Parts: sequence; structure tokens; C-alpha cells
Amino acid sequence: MNFTRAIVRPPARSFAAGLSSAGEGPPDVDRALEQHAAYVRALRDCGLQITQLQPDEAYPDGTFVEDTAIVTGRGAVLTRPGAPSRAGEVRGMAQYVRKFFAEPNVIEAPGSVDGGDICEADGHFLIGVSARTNLQGAQQLSEHLARMGYTASVIDITANPALLHLKSGIAYLGDGVWVADQAVEQDLRSQRAIEVRDLILVPAAEAYAANCVRVNQVVFVAAGYPQIRAALQSRGCRVVSLDVSEFKKMDGGLSCLSLRF
Ligand code: GLY
Repeated sequence: MNFTRAIVRPPARSFAAGLSSAGEGPPDVDRALEQHAAYVRALRDCGLQITQLQPDEAYPDGTFVEDTAIVTGRGAVLTRPGAPSRAGEVRGMAQYVRKFFAEPNVIEAPGSVDGGDICEADGHFLIGVSARTNLQGAQQLSEHLARMGYTASVIDITANPALLHLKSGIAYLGDGVWVADQAVEQDLRSQRAIEVRDLILVPAAEAYAANCVRVNQVVFVAAGYPQIRAALQSRGCRVVSLDVSEFKKMDGGLSCLSLRF
């Protein structure tokens, strides 16, 4: 988890036209831009060099760059997002991924993968099969990862429509420490290839905060979730709280806003 770079894309003015099931009304785009700028500052404070792409009006969900690629220490995979309105986002990202990763692999039809469904834990990749990532995509991704020397396994979250992506419900913080929504706790614990030394169970009232992100020595957590913040701090984590209220309105979270490598 020692990241040196991140790729980000601020939200476009068309942001409110993106996909959302949150039912919280339209985002305030100016506020979203401020929140995004604070997020980028926090990444810089962690020592990351930032590649900031231009907002793209054609893709209202394009700020959620994590869904377009899987970037690892050994190579990259360009995804094929499961929502038709997001398919074209990969073309715009590919040229930047190629700057850092020679010959990235690709997910091909009929496979679909959203990066938000992929969670790496010490060389093992959990792949969420969801409304966005299908079994064919999971299979293709597993094969690409195997060629890079990684292992992978699937967690099916299709029975939990409240979770858009696997990482809406889990986060890996390193050293066997996990954050998990109650809906995926048992699935996570049943995974043989990972170590679950400590699991912070997210209370239902703070479900959104399951999408936290470890960036080097700190953990980014959505602001406004005191129980998760306290649980992390009690374990000695350095927590950075970031207000992402406008991204939540569009079903997005902290991890979706960057590709970190
Ligand atoms: N609005 C983010 C997504 O649905 O992919």
C-alpha cells in the first residue's frame, strides 16, 4: 500500500446527470469541485504525485475514475464498465494508464468489470460480482491477474442491491485489518485466501463509511461517521476525514475518486 501516484478527474458541470440511486437530490457541482480539490490535497499530503485529467462533460460519472482500470504493482487492466453510459470513459483513461503501464490488459465483451468491485489484499484480489461486474468479466480479470502472479476469488453481492460495488461494503486497510458492512461480513470471513485478523463491522447507520481508503500511512474516511472514525483511531490509525457529501448523492465514495498506484 505504498502509493506514489494517483490519477483523478474533477467532476464535470454535467455531474448531476450521472447515475444515482441515492435519492438525495442533485449534487451541488461547485461544492463537489471543492470537495474534490480537498481530496486531491489529501492525496498530495500523503506524498502522491497527481495526474489530474480534465473534466469531461460527455461522461457525468467520469469523476469516478477507479471504475475504469485496475492498477497493480505488476500491471494494469482496462475495464469494461457495466453501465452503458459509462463504457466510453475507458477510452479517455486508457492513454493515461498507458503512460504508466506498458500494454495494459483489457476486459472484453461480454465481460464487464467496474473497478469499484475489485479489492486487493496483499496480492489476492476479491472480485465483486454485482449489477456492474459479471461472471465473464470476473473470469477474464482473474486470468489477467493470474498471469501477473496474483490470485483472485469472487464475492457475489447481487443479493445486496444496497451495495453498488463490492467496495461500497468493504475496505482492506492492510495487516489483516478489514472494514465491512454487515451484508458482506460472512462472505468476507469465508474467503480462504485472505487473512481477517481484525474486522471493523460498520453499523447500519454508518454503512456509507465502509468505503474508506488506506493511502500509505493514513486512512481516508468520509466525514460525518464518528463510530467508524473512533473504531479506526482506537486501532492506532491516522484518520483523515473528507467531506464527500456531493459524491454520495451520486452513489460514489472515496475510493472511486482516484486510481492509486
Ligand atoms: N454514479 C456512479 C455509478 O453509478 O457508477
